[in-house]
Amino acid sequence: MRAVLDHIGIAVNDLQSALAFYRDALGLEIEASEEVVSQHVRTHFLAVGAARLELLEATAPESAIAKYLEKRGPGLHHITLRVADVRAAVAELKTRGVKLIDDDPRPGAEGSLIVFVHPASTGGVLIELKQNP
Ligand code: CO
Repeated sequence: MRAVLDHIGIAVNDLQSALAFYRDALGLEIEASEEVVSQHVRTHFLAVGAARLELLEATAPESAIAKYLEKRGPGLHHITLRVADVRAAVAELKTRGVKLIDDDPRPGAEGSLIVFVHPASTGGVLIELKQNP
């Protein structure tokens, strides 16, 4: 499997203050915004070279992002690596005993298929694996 850095997810409490830094101070531009209903989040992607930053807002209290913000406050949430075949990646990781949060890929932003790898198997980093449509 060959993984490429796709984006870095950042949980935000207040989108406007996040944009005051990432957009206004750093000059990054929002390329796409989307509500991912299944995950109760709204995502905003900003281009940074070949990769992107993903600002994540919770849209419901049961959102994983809402729970994260409650527990840890805003900040670095996950790193996303893009793979060609997420199902093959899952099979490979399972044979290696890697702990996954999702047993099967599920829909992510922009029509992608995603799974999350448990931080217990990654040295404490929440890793999302993504396959583009
Ligand atoms: Co993401």
